[in-house]
Amino acid sequence: MNRKSATVPSPGVINRYFDRLPVGAATPIVTLGEGGTPLLLSDRLSKEADAEVWLKYEGLNPTGSFKDRGMTVAVSKAVEGDTRLVVCASTGNTSASAAAYSARAGIPCAVVVPKGGVAAGKLSQAVMHGARVFEIDATFDKALRIVTELAEGRQVTLVNSTNPFRLEGQKTAAFEVVEDLGRTPDIHIMPVGNAGNITAYWRGYREAVELGWSVGRPRMYGVQADGAAPIVRGRVVDQPRTIASAIRIGDPASRSGALEAAGDSGGSIVSVPDDAIVEAYHSVAREGVFVEPAAAASVAGLRHLSRSGLVPRGSTVVCVLTGHGLKDPEVALVHGLQPERVEPQVDALLERLQLA
Ligand code: F0G
Repeated sequence: MNRKSATVPSPGVINRYFDRLPVGAATPIVTLGEGGTPLLLSDRLSKEADAEVWLKYEGLNPTGSFKDRGMTVAVSKAVEGDTRLVVCASTGNTSASAAAYSARAGIPCAVVVPKGGVAAGKLSQAVMHGARVFEIDATFDKALRIVTELAEGRQVTLVNSTNPFRLEGQKTAAFEVVEDLGRTPDIHIMPVGNAGNITAYWRGYREAVELGWSVGRPRMYGVQADGAAPIVRGRVVDQPRTIASAIRIGDPASRSGALEAAGDSGGSIVSVPDDAIVEAYHSVAREGVFVEPAAAASVAGLRHLSRSGLVPRGSTVVCVLTGHGLKDPEVALVHGLQPERVEPQVDALLERLQLA
């Protein structure tokens, strides 16, 4: 693997931000061309919130989620460090990304997931990329404790967000936001599960100021689902429940990072009910942007904050859409419009479409 292993549209976050990441000449760059995702203005949400609302569409990363930004750094460092095996616990996206980047690097990968807790698209990715997939009859939180212990003192690299290289890679999304907007947003809203990503964005925004790329920092808001809101409630949730399986987490490893981001920036961590997540899921899809339910929590969060008077008129807001809708087709087919049956004739279609 050499530095030229990917080209446009994105050279990958390591090539793009080489000087800002913990990599050097000896680091083999394992990339799938992650990063460089679009920032889309949402007319509908801007009108609704009386603000300028931008969507950072992280579902367009190579494996369909923001995890790729962190995984390129974590796996590159693992190869540099001569690891024998990459492992992670996951609600799905981390396992898909870990499996893909390990395959790219040619090293074995094993993932541990909660049985029945991972959307089909994500599981299919991990399987296809050749990872060993282990299901346990327990939560994500338990899976994370198991793999953490497994990796300790062995030549095994844990690539959950407790791996410091993951967060370094993920902070590049904040760099892109600042670069694409040409300024720092006033308000930044994103889903929170294990709380690594909000920690990473906060780091990215702070570094952007230190580097002179931007002035000021956004107020950071993290969004949990009501049934999986350990940070909002201030205690571990033993049996987290939500339709947004990606953030079905009861004991976030980076809790302190989330609290620091929210506290230092003048934001907060809030929670929203599942029906608000489903509503937001529809609403962005109707603007042409298909995301998975956990990603839609950002938009549900925006509505919640807007109703609470926390989005001043005319603010610039960024909502992060963390994962692609194709990850979780079951939820779409249960909650979306059902296909209609029609006779295989033009006339029948014309009639149904009221064009006859
Ligand atoms: N959105 C999506 C689509 C996710 O997959 C995750 C986390 C989050 C948001 C929350 O990010 O954990 O950094 O606060 N997914 C992890 C996984 C836990 O295993 O794929 P976080």
